Amino acid sequence: MDVDSDSGTPELEIVRDALTIACRAPSVHNTQPWRWVFDGTRLFLYSDTAQRLIAADPQSRQLIISCGAALDHARQAFVAMGWFAYATRMPDPDRPELLAVFEFRPWCGALNRTAARVRAIPLRHTDRLPMAAPGDWSGVLETVRELARPHHVTVDEITDDDRPRLAEATRQVTALRRHDSAYQDELHWWSGHSESHAGVPVAALISDNEAARVDVGRAFPSAPYSTRRPDLDDHSRLVVLSTIGDSPGQWLHTGEALSALLLECTARGLTTGILTHITELMTTRAEIAELITQPGVPQVVIRIGTAPAETGIDSTPRRPLSAVLEVHPPHVRNPASVDLTLSAPVRS
Ligand SMILES: Cc1cc2nc3c(=O)[nH]c(=O)nc-3n(C[C@H](O)[C@H](O)[C@H](O)COP(=O)(O)O)c2cc1C
Repeated sequence: MDVDSDSGTPELEIVRDALTIACRAPSVHNTQPWRWVFDGTRLFLYSDTAQRLIAADPQSRQLIISCGAALDHARQAFVAMGWFAYATRMPDPDRPELLAVFEFRPWCGALNRTAARVRAIPLRHTDRLPMAAPGDWSGVLETVRELARPHHVTVDEITDDDRPRLAEATRQVTALRRHDSAYQDELHWWSGHSESHAGVPVAALISDNEAARVDVGRAFPSAPYSTRRPDLDDHSRLVVLSTIGDSPGQWLHTGEALSALLLECTARGLTTGILTHITELMTTRAEIAELITQPGVPQVVIRIGTAPAETGIDSTPRRPLSAVLEVHPPHVRNPASVDLTLSAPVRS
């Protein structure tokens, strides 16, 4: 284990390696709206509001959920590298962009499922294609509920009887958004391109033919004609992650629960997709709230299924670590005292 002899904190190389893994976290439209600052002792996670979706996410709810997913990815990666990273969430009410501060101590406890979930990080991709049904569904559901519970996030299954209501909500959202030019401009800015370090590349999108076989999904720009998984209609199971309220702290926890859930499913050989088009609009969000068992605020819907091996999904790109990690000289211990203004990230 590489321990910095002065501080008892991980060496910079470990921090870089863990954050390279953490940045594989999912984010809305692959915006990667996070910034990390390492001061030689502590690691700070900030939201990068320059990456916010102004039309689709005016409250920054999905931005913070995305950062929560990166937070959980980071904690799991550090543990797998021999470091327990204790996170204090939202420590300063006057600086809402500071989402978490990590402090470290060496960790040599059991890794059990953590190692499996960290191995799953590079294997996890958002799957928008039709899926076969997941195996051992009741076991999966029980485990993901356990993983979400410490975050006060509930996981409700959408029953077969209720599923047509989500399909109808998808149709409603698609119709409402069709003539929303701010939303459409933003969607086309962030998706359907190649050779960019951010955004949803065309290779991750699906064709009209494939989309016609998935009843609940965001309408992205269509990918060129293809018929992957040609004999498959969508048999995924849908779950909803909900919180008791709708605060930034609850959004951060939702992202953490989302990360744990996705990685557990991937570690079990399942495929997953994240859906928020129906939680962005009040009307369809209220409809989902009627389908969950306890009072709660729906945050994210997840498709979980099985993918035929021959139709793997490619990795989406990520911004280079240098664009999202700032390292302060070791003598600077309190980043609050230095100017943390990074140049506005640009899509490259
Ligand atoms: C908060 C959040 C909301 C998302 N919403 C959607 C969505 O509505 N539809 C969709 O297809 N993907 C959605 N995604 C998935 C992202 O597009 C995906 O994570 C990103 O493009 C990176 O790709 P990857 O997950 O394959 O690494 C969402 C992800 C997050 C974290």
